[in-house]
Amino acid sequence: MRWPARRRGTPPPPRGAAALALASLASAATVLAGCSTGGPQSTLDSVGFGARRAEGLFWLMFWISMAVFVEVLAFLGWALLRRRRHTVRAGGGDATGFVVVLGVAIPAVILLPVYGRNLADLDALARPPGAPATTVELIGHQWWWEVRYPERPGAVTANEMHIPAGRTVRVLLRTADVQHSFWVPQLMPKTDLIAGKVNQTLLHADRPGTYRAQCAEYCGKQHAFMALVVTADPVDRFEAWLARAAAPAPAPTSQAEQRGRAVFEGGACASCHTVRGTTAHGTVGPDLTTIGSRWSIGAGAVPNDRGHLGGWVANSQTVKPGNYMPPQPVPASDLPDLLTYLQSLR
Ligand code: CUA
Repeated sequence: MRWPARRRGTPPPPRGAAALALASLASAATVLAGCSTGGPQSTLDSVGFGARRAEGLFWLMFWISMAVFVEVLAFLGWALLRRRRHTVRAGGGDATGFVVVLGVAIPAVILLPVYGRNLADLDALARPPGAPATTVELIGHQWWWEVRYPERPGAVTANEMHIPAGRTVRVLLRTADVQHSFWVPQLMPKTDLIAGKVNQTLLHADRPGTYRAQCAEYCGKQHAFMALVVTADPVDRFEAWLARAAAPAPAPTSQAEQRGRAVFEGGACASCHTVRGTTAHGTVGPDLTTIGSRWSIGAGAVPNDRGHLGGWVANSQTVKPGNYMPPQPVPASDLPDLLTYLQSLR
């Protein structure tokens, strides 16, 4: 198809105005989208030294980008107005100076200080406020997080990490399968979990709170449901939590719990899961010694309540397709007691 020829010197149709309006709308939408800076997983609400450095760098780059954007719009408007007043001839004038200034000099003046700031941030991330007070071992699995406290053998949990607020915590990162990435937007930038290597990051929460974390490296079908909650407790409450997490599971206190435990130990559950203090020592799936107090089932897939737990045990494939737990043919007469027992594990 051939476009109709336009007569030389005829003003172009008013596409420029529409483009300007569109660009303004897009920039307004971007700015408005960033208005909400709160939330449990917002990089714009930093609570730790690492996240604060990342947020500072973000705002520096944001305002520089805004200045460049406004400047480009100003040039665009100027060019459109100029084109309407004058007939532009192709090949007129030498634009070398223009290209050197706008294409080389100004970008260099902008990007070099940003690069310098970046290097300073990298250096600062290795210098936490205070020496690490405790160490946490985080192991990535498809698709859940195993959390261990090497200084307190036995303290093992899944998809939740407790740390002392106001203290620096060293997190050792390993993966049991593919590459994952640990990211707590309010506390620390991303750090990868690399196969065959122990990586490390430093967490520091300035104040107590609950901070959502997410796997930030595509790791397979259920990458999106690989969430973790980091809870920063006052130091004495953290110590109490750690002592409880290291202890074996409480003994059943009712007949239903007693029967549920027998179902758990005698069925397929025990071949994949551990409940410390019982005969269940499986290591394929998460340690379930404190399953009753966890925030979710399936690393953020569904809330941890009786209904969702029952659905998960019966057929977790309908909840989180592709996860490695096959459907469990637990007889309907056993399921209520099994759920009562699991919920008592706190
Ligand atoms: Cu693990 Cu994405």
